[in-house]
Amino acid sequence: MNANTLRQRFLTFFQQRSHALIGTASLIPENDPSVLFTTAGMHPLVPYLLGEAHPAGRRLANVQKCIRTGDIMEVGDDTHLTFFEMLGNWSLGDYGKPESIRWSYEFLTEQLGLDPARISVTCFAGDADAPRDDESADIWLSLGIPRITFLPKKDNWWGPAGATGPCGPDTEIFYDTDPSGPIGETMVTNPQRFWEVWNNVFMQYEKCDDGRYIPLGQANVDTGLGLDRMLAVLQGVPSPYETDVLLPIMEHLRRLVRQPDTFALRVIADHTRAAVFILAEGIQPGNVDQPYIVRRLIRRAVRYGREIGIEGHFLADLAETVIATLSDPYTELRQQRDHILLSLDREETKFQGTLVRGRHEFSRSVDQCRARGKSILPGDVMFKLYDTYGFPVELTQELAQQQGLEIDLSGYEQAFSAHQERSRQGAAGRFRGGLTERRPETIQLHTATHLLHEALRRVLGTHVEQRGSNITVERLRFDFSHTDKLTEEQITAVEGLVNEQIQHNLPVSWQEMSLDEAKNSGAIGLFEDRYGEVVKVYTIGDFSREICGGPHVDRTGQLGHFQIVKDEAVGSGLRRIRAVLV
Ligand code: SER
Repeated sequence: MNANTLRQRFLTFFQQRSHALIGTASLIPENDPSVLFTTAGMHPLVPYLLGEAHPAGRRLANVQKCIRTGDIMEVGDDTHLTFFEMLGNWSLGDYGKPESIRWSYEFLTEQLGLDPARISVTCFAGDADAPRDDESADIWLSLGIPRITFLPKKDNWWGPAGATGPCGPDTEIFYDTDPSGPIGETMVTNPQRFWEVWNNVFMQYEKCDDGRYIPLGQANVDTGLGLDRMLAVLQGVPSPYETDVLLPIMEHLRRLVRQPDTFALRVIADHTRAAVFILAEGIQPGNVDQPYIVRRLIRRAVRYGREIGIEGHFLADLAETVIATLSDPYTELRQQRDHILLSLDREETKFQGTLVRGRHEFSRSVDQCRARGKSILPGDVMFKLYDTYGFPVELTQELAQQQGLEIDLSGYEQAFSAHQERSRQGAAGRFRGGLTERRPETIQLHTATHLLHEALRRVLGTHVEQRGSNITVERLRFDFSHTDKLTEEQITAVEGLVNEQIQHNLPVSWQEMSLDEAKNSGAIGLFEDRYGEVVKVYTIGDFSREICGGPHVDRTGQLGHFQIVKDEAVGSGLRRIRAVLV
């Protein structure tokens, strides 16, 4: 069974059970300033899990490309990857636990031929927020799976993806990769042996700002099955790196080195694949946000390449193999080929020169530490390695670990903020995953987006409607319906109107109301057909009123000066503005 067959089988299975097939969403979340990447199939579906009506219905399935950087130090082992594909099916207040569990079981055993004797599961043990999930356990028992372990929230609860949002208890399905192993072992005692292959989350709660879990208006099901891991199980190989989605990349690398070091090869293969997919979204390596993540992935791959003796530029060639391997399901790889190869090559050139000198500087610092009897690498040394030699902090951390040294992360962060106020936010800790990051810059730009939206409607006309929004710490990007290029005068008028509202220091407030009330109050209803009964409406003084999930600043005076930096066409009748706060 190869990747194409697995994707197809999964989609067909759920299509036959009345699920609408939705395509993969972008890796870069739209309309969500709090996250850097799409980390799970449920991520683009959050509004629908919270109750808005999805245009395709209440049963959905897809294959979602995902990036998770939280486990980057784990990459190289048998199971962790930064880029992976997730097969998912959803019930938006439609079916519940019995169907969800039964279909997972049927798919695994009947469609994929897994041996039921090698399947074990976990269920939620219950706590003050939600009861023990005996219902799921009973369903598993009725299917003939008696190997059930009850675990607490830290193991058997999924979400919210950010600080707040939909979440719930889950039942996780494990496959025993070594049935001849010691009797009595479980996923708890030996996670290397028992692989989690599927996670069925019963999203019936919403975590609120105050930390409480309140029942959602609708009981949802959100499942995720890791394609790469499942392929390894089905192809009987030790890890995803030997499956048809990664093997060609590994083989390409093996041809470049004399003494292949499996760990290094895996890191390079994983990081290059992830970088290719991020670049395919039109991202360039840079110093903050997604550009910084892709820079780190590329640099870490280059460093491992040098360590195992790969001479000269190798990433662009390797990327060709990634593209050849995955561009059938992901045609954007072919479309963005030139940009991908060029970006990799440029970044490799940039990093190459400094790598050797940086390593030298690092060794000197290590010697100094030792001479002084210290076992911690100081923060200012780490900052110098970052600033002068382009060493991402996690690279320094890794080198330090290899030398048996600790690092002074907070010292580094202090040095960083002192020296580089502007890119302050792109620093250490980013690899811990962006989901909970709600940073002042992105919140300010989000409020500025509302002001821009309203200003465009006042200057150009009410035919202007939001078609997309993307925010990084540096800029906002706003797509809207309009045909003609904006004139100088129009741009000046829009900027003027936004800055006027900022100067007035208008209060920003929100209220929950029904969709009808929202419309009657004059709120702009974005993507109206997607909203359910109760919506959140953000009001900015008497200037703007818009349906939105937030977050926003309290007063517009916190925004600074608004400036449009680019106006371009991105499709017929569709324009894109990039703007900054300075
Ligand atoms: N959201 C859950 C996960 O990522 C199930 O899809 O595991």
